[in-house]
Amino acid sequence: MPSGTTAGPRPVRIEVSGLTKTFGTVRAVSDLGFTVEPGSVTGFLGPNGAGKTTTLRMVLGLITPDTGTATFDGVPYGALREPVRTVGAVLETAFHPARSGRDHLRVYCRAAGIPVARADEVLERVGLATAGRRRAGGYSLGMRQRLALATALLGDPPVLVLDEPANGLDPEGILWLRGFLRHLAHDEGRTVLVSSHLLAEMEQTADRVVIVGAGRLVRQGSIAELRSGAQGAGTVLVRSPEADRLVAVLATAGLAATRSEDGLVTVEGATPALVGARAFAAQVELHELRAESTGLEDLYFRLTAGQEQFAAGSPAGPAQYTTQGAAR
Ligand SMILES: Nc1ncnc2c1ncn2[C@@H]1O[C@H](COP(=O)(O)OP(=O)(O)OP(=O)(O)O)[C@@H](O)[C@H]1O
Ligand SMILES: [Mg+2]
Repeated sequence: MPSGTTAGPRPVRIEVSGLTKTFGTVRAVSDLGFTVEPGSVTGFLGPNGAGKTTTLRMVLGLITPDTGTATFDGVPYGALREPVRTVGAVLETAFHPARSGRDHLRVYCRAAGIPVARADEVLERVGLATAGRRRAGGYSLGMRQRLALATALLGDPPVLVLDEPANGLDPEGILWLRGFLRHLAHDEGRTVLVSSHLLAEMEQTADRVVIVGAGRLVRQGSIAELRSGAQGAGTVLVRSPEADRLVAVLATAGLAATRSEDGLVTVEGATPALVGARAFAAQVELHELRAESTGLEDLYFRLTAGQEQFAAGSPAGPAQYTTQGAAR
């Protein structure tokens, strides 16, 4: 992966290990571990309720994990000497509606000991140079997302942690965000950790993905690895007049196969060659053998299917996003 070539900030690695967090009876995050490397965009993927926001809040020291650690080059967020100049975050978006975007940023600058002139620099970077002078209360969702990103960039941090920053962006905004995040990572060498519940959104943005389901790590690796995995071993569909025997034969070979009423056998984590070889060795007659077309999206769906979780009694309404910096 290309890393910072221009004089950018120092590279910082995020390391998450054994993170667990329980809210009442809901185990939001379970023994979660992954790493995020500088110079690349890491997509933090999982369905609604998978524990992404909870994890990011622990990474940023906003909530205390039951167990486990999250560090920036070995240092937990709470122990960083210059947190605002090390980590920029977009978690929720809440702006004073009567204040302009520019004033919002200037307030942050003063609080963080950053020259107020920096406010105009970051507004320029996120394409809000003009709109920045208007009341934030009148901003569109996309403009609020840009303002949140501008806030995160104030301290010129080597690390950016962004929770669903593409939420509510129009196609043009998503395209812009994609290019911007890749530029921050590839050209400036920053460490970019960005969450999303949509694989399609991350597929062209992230270099690596960390996929979680029900608070647990289900996969981490490069998009390329994920893609080859999706093509290599996927779901194989096979038809046989001896479906039950085929299922038994495949089970002996450690392959999870299930048969449906019409005699079609579905084999997970296999290739047609593997299934064909096992059937041939056991002299099971086959009438059909094919790989189900498994795109990345299918793989993601399979990995996380049925793992959305919502706390009992809490209506699963749309998440409310409001803007704040990690510095507070
Ligand atoms: N403060 C809290 N109190 C109780 N339960 C919580 C709290 N925060 C999160 N949870 C629960 O923890 C689980 C994980 O929630 P979290 O917000 O981390 O998921 P997520 O992956 O960010 O989901 P989404 O894609 O919807 O943003 C959910 O079941 C949620 O209801
Ligand atoms: Mg979330």
